[in-house]
Amino acid sequence: MNIRFRLQLSHLNIIALLVLFNNSVSAQDFMTNPYGRNTASLNGNWQVVVDWYNRGEHLGIAQDKKITKPTDFIEYSFSNQTLKVPGDWNSQDPHLFMYEGSVWYKKEFNATRKEGKRTFLYFGAVNYIAEVYLNGKKLGSHEGGFTPFQFEITNTLKDGTNNLIVRVNGERKEDYIPAMNYDWWNYGGITRDVSLIETTATFIEDYFIQLKKGSATEIEAWVKVNGDGKSKKVTLSIPAVGINKILETDSSGYAKTSLNASLQLWTPTVPKLYDITLSTDEETVKEKIGFRSIEVKGLDILLNGKPIFLKGVNFHEEISKDKRRAVSEADARQLLQSAKDLGCNFIRTAHYPQSERLVKMADEMGLMIWEEIPVWQGIQFGNPIILAKAENMLREMIRRDKNRASIIIWSISNETAPAADRDRVLTNMAAACRSLDPTRLVSSAFNHVKMEGNETIINDTLARQLDVFGINRYMGWYAHWPAKPGTMTFKSDFNKPMIMSEFGGESKYGNHGSADSAGLWNEEYQEQLYKDNIMMFKNIPFLRGVCPWVLYDFRSPTRLNAENQDGWNRKGLLSDKGDKKKAWYVLKAFYDSLK
Ligand code: GCU
Repeated sequence: MNIRFRLQLSHLNIIALLVLFNNSVSAQDFMTNPYGRNTASLNGNWQVVVDWYNRGEHLGIAQDKKITKPTDFIEYSFSNQTLKVPGDWNSQDPHLFMYEGSVWYKKEFNATRKEGKRTFLYFGAVNYIAEVYLNGKKLGSHEGGFTPFQFEITNTLKDGTNNLIVRVNGERKEDYIPAMNYDWWNYGGITRDVSLIETTATFIEDYFIQLKKGSATEIEAWVKVNGDGKSKKVTLSIPAVGINKILETDSSGYAKTSLNASLQLWTPTVPKLYDITLSTDEETVKEKIGFRSIEVKGLDILLNGKPIFLKGVNFHEEISKDKRRAVSEADARQLLQSAKDLGCNFIRTAHYPQSERLVKMADEMGLMIWEEIPVWQGIQFGNPIILAKAENMLREMIRRDKNRASIIIWSISNETAPAADRDRVLTNMAAACRSLDPTRLVSSAFNHVKMEGNETIINDTLARQLDVFGINRYMGWYAHWPAKPGTMTFKSDFNKPMIMSEFGGESKYGNHGSADSAGLWNEEYQEQLYKDNIMMFKNIPFLRGVCPWVLYDFRSPTRLNAENQDGWNRKGLLSDKGDKKKAWYVLKAFYDSLK
């Protein structure tokens, strides 16, 4: 690379970071575990202005001016529409069914400023760009539809009524993550909880409490306090195992320790969680944490030192029967219970960090998770800003979920084509992942393989950066059988475990007919396809998990077959209404046979 080009590249990186900062730097690092703190919910009906042509900035909507004299002229009004928060706008108003523009949200709330207390405004997620204003003052903005962000509002809060306004923009753009043509519905809006969190002047902002990699008894813990009184005594207690350890934070507010304990380790069958408290002389943060170790050894994935086989399923964060984002505890429980009913011990929360409620519930229900950031096909890897944005999303995903026993795999991408820029960005991402969390496995889902007759050759060199790799392979659907399923073989250039991270095909529930033609979209074809894939799995010596695409039929604007899809991706094992298709029973029997 010549000097000029290198200077250009570094020049572009600087621009990239400035643009990124313009979008998100003012959204601070959010605190860990908002639900275990002194939190007031701002969920409910918010007043909205749908800003079809992005006129809101020009009109000064963020200032929410009041008419005070006859000559005042205000050409917008919050008074004639509300939307539920959390929730996507698409499912709440037929005019917004396909809307991808801007909506201004407004919530007024009462507050009392308290001496020695700090107040934060916390968003679980907003898709895709959020610009936040309090009492007419811009707090900042955040980019990315699936991770939390927060702003400290201690000095902006007023006694009495406060005026909170959020502009949400849901457009898709080439240099966004995901980019333009993703195969799921672009649900826009404030799609997860919004909370006010009150803390003490110096509070416990972040912590990590997990088993040391490969250990069954040594807990490694660190804690970070935020506030002037940096050197703070923090007591970490795990009463059930008699731990009551006092940590003293240093001048940067940070302290770490390691503790030995005889623990009941978390497993999918016995998902043991321990009550944990972190307390200072001023506050207590409560948390439930499971302890387990996850490693790769040769071709095996070891949970607590024992080889496991991952019996998984993919699903989007969607309640298909209502054509909407999943937003509640009940929604999370429906999705997770459907996975348990199928005999799963593993889920892939495609293709983005799903709600913190769902991840915490997976801890309780005993489902291991492959969690990923939406680096999904069509990403502009040559654009310097992409690495910054992708690393920001990775950092936010890991920051939020690093204490969850259920999460065993961080995935950095899905179906990206081998290329110099892509390899450079994803190699950086894999390294960033390990430095953020050395305890979990790093993966990615590939769909570029080489076929030689009946042999599938896995040669995507990015696998060298991974602990385990996923293969998305639609044998019998997008790829037709070059030979009988039972004679198919797989070869890998890497001595690592493989997960079949996607496979399957479509059928419309209730369509019945012959099993020999994909064209009929019937259940019998899908059923046979599952039987054929299961036969093929038996010939993959380094296979350590399977994860069919997909649990429920789901909404997608890319699915245009009017008779059978009509805006639905029909690869569900369950119909959009939750009916079991014939393939569901094939997979259930296969998983039960693996007990
Ligand atoms: C891809 C992709 C999914 C998509 C699926 C399909 O593998 O990862 O997001 O929905 O294939 O084509 O149905």
